Amino acid sequence: MIVAVLGAGKIGEAVARAVVKSPKVSLVLVTKRNTSSLKRPLPRKLQASSDNVAAAREADVVILAVKAADAKRVLDEISAQTHGKLVISFMAAISLARLERHLPKAKVVRAMTNMAAMVGEAATAYSAGKGLSEADLETARFVMDRLGESIELPESQLDAVTALSGSGPAYIAILIDALVTAGLKVGLARDTAFRLATQTLVGTSKLLRETGMSITELRDAVTTPAGTTIAGIYELEKGSFRTSVINAVEAATQAAERVAKKFEAEH
Ligand SMILES: NC(=O)c1ccc[n+]([C@@H]2O[C@H](COP(=O)([O-])OP(=O)(O)OC[C@H]3O[C@@H](n4cnc5c(N)ncnc54)[C@H](OP(=O)(O)O)[C@@H]3O)[C@@H](O)[C@H]2O)c1
Repeated sequence: MIVAVLGAGKIGEAVARAVVKSPKVSLVLVTKRNTSSLKRPLPRKLQASSDNVAAAREADVVILAVKAADAKRVLDEISAQTHGKLVISFMAAISLARLERHLPKAKVVRAMTNMAAMVGEAATAYSAGKGLSEADLETARFVMDRLGESIELPESQLDAVTALSGSGPAYIAILIDALVTAGLKVGLARDTAFRLATQTLVGTSKLLRETGMSITELRDAVTTPAGTTIAGIYELEKGSFRTSVINAVEAATQAAERVAKKFEAEH
């Protein structure tokens, strides 16, 4: 299988480097205007250029990862090269209907992933457009699963996904930064606090996912009466921690909706 990744930036490059590792993939063609900014050396089966048309023509599967502002130009360029091909868009804000209008002969999937694709731990949600066969969906899932975990959802939920897991690494990074700073305040070295905070995050996620323990069961198991954890939780509640997180995701969802509407209005 030959895969083209058009727009090898943060997301595109992560996708390309994840997909190229599979023995099922014989070649990955990545494009960007300035190929010198790609990290070298490139893997043996990965070739870079600025030629979207040639990459789309060569490929069996075309992946789109440019910013919304650059999307129309790239879609117009590759429209004739995508007849009958699977096209997976990782671009926020651009609807399936819009993608299908620009690529009328392609079979389109719209996906939202996140930066953890760089380490094969992305949370990706996707929606399929019209006319995909079971084999096309399998290929789409194959690509998504190289990045981490994936889930199929109605397109109407993708703005919420953008706000929760697309932007999520930024929220989690802020939480880790807060824990590291807190560690410093209570006398831990920065690198010690960083290791403890990041491993606590990984461990808690694994615990919840692998044991089936509920969030409240886990919280209660750690929280003894008049103990240390409840003293900490009390301060989190006083600072409206949960309300802040809910407000953040709601505001980001509204922002995603605004960006999508703006794109529709402008194109
Ligand atoms: N970053 C995230 O956390 C994240 C998460 C989920 C989804 N997304 C979505 O992923 C998409 C890419 O985001 P990003 O953060 O990866 O942006 P980015 O790092 O700026 O990458 C976009 C890439 O597109 C390339 N590009 C621009 N115009 C091009 C053209 N005409 N032909 C070929 N390549 C072109 C740019 O490279 P040159 O300037 O060298 O051309 C750049 O490397 C966006 O639509 C975004 O909504 C991002």
